[in-house]
Amino acid sequence: MDAVTSTVPDSAPHSHTPAAARLIGITKTYFKPDGSVLVEALRPLDLTIPRGQYIAIMGASGSGKSTLMNLLGCLDRPTAGRYELDGKGIESLNDDELSRVRGQKIGFIFQAFNLISELNIAENVEIPLLYQGVSAGERRARAIESLALVGLENRVHHRPYELSGGQQQRAAIARALVGRPAILMADEPTGNLDSATGQAILEVFEALHAKGLTLIMVTHDDRIADRCQRVVRLKDGAVEYDRIGARRGFTAKHGGTHGGTQEGTQEGAHA
Ligand SMILES: Nc1ncnc2c1ncn2[C@@H]1O[C@H](COP(=O)(O)OP(=O)(O)O)[C@@H](O)[C@H]1O
Ligand SMILES: [Mg+2]
Repeated sequence: MDAVTSTVPDSAPHSHTPAAARLIGITKTYFKPDGSVLVEALRPLDLTIPRGQYIAIMGASGSGKSTLMNLLGCLDRPTAGRYELDGKGIESLNDDELSRVRGQKIGFIFQAFNLISELNIAENVEIPLLYQGVSAGERRARAIESLALVGLENRVHHRPYELSGGQQQRAAIARALVGRPAILMADEPTGNLDSATGQAILEVFEALHAKGLTLIMVTHDDRIADRCQRVVRLKDGAVEYDRIGARRGFTAKHGGTHGGTQEGTQEGAHA
């Protein structure tokens, strides 16, 4: 019925509930053609993201955010270390299996909405289901269901260019949700939007989070990060700090628990 409720865990997370994502000693090294090291984009990195968490990934340009998102989203593989997605290690999967897992478990939202202008909104939202062998009738029903979740059920037959930027991003969110992913990943989702429209998109994320979805978002904006439950800041491919709860001096509107780890380590030292 609802594209999101199917991902809500049966009970509150306990130690026996697998994390949405668990990285253990993950590294990513880019090599030169001669085999020597070009850049260590991620240094041995441990990160556990419980189901249902709303987490912001921050850090200066080049700190490794996109590399980390690509690994978490199964678009790329680590050089070393273990990645458990929803409790299952991905290292033994071949490329086809990894693509399938990505299609089933992950929804992506990009800064540029990446909608196809020749297709209407419903057709755009249906795209991920084309690769899952879902029938045409069910594709349309699920697209409309997804569009309703983001308040766009009355724009089904519009083309992307007939929508505002905020509506286009809502459509992109609906497309990310239509496969009923366990994790929604967004790279600067409000980067192309004015601040009022960006606020409305954040409210969509917060509503999805309230339904139990795991959300991982890259942002450069402290005000956005302050609305997340947790902030992981990268520096040179390592975790500079990992903070749970509101930043000191700020009141998180939808704050999680206070008393995070290493709070204040780099207070104010924003790139
Ligand atoms: N395909 C690649 N080949 C070589 N180096 C790369 C590649 N992708 C990223 N890098 C390098 O890895 C580091 C981290 O990059 P990236 O994850 O894109 O950072 P961010 O998203 O935080 O700006 C940077 O030094 C970048 O130049
Ligand atoms: Mg990047």
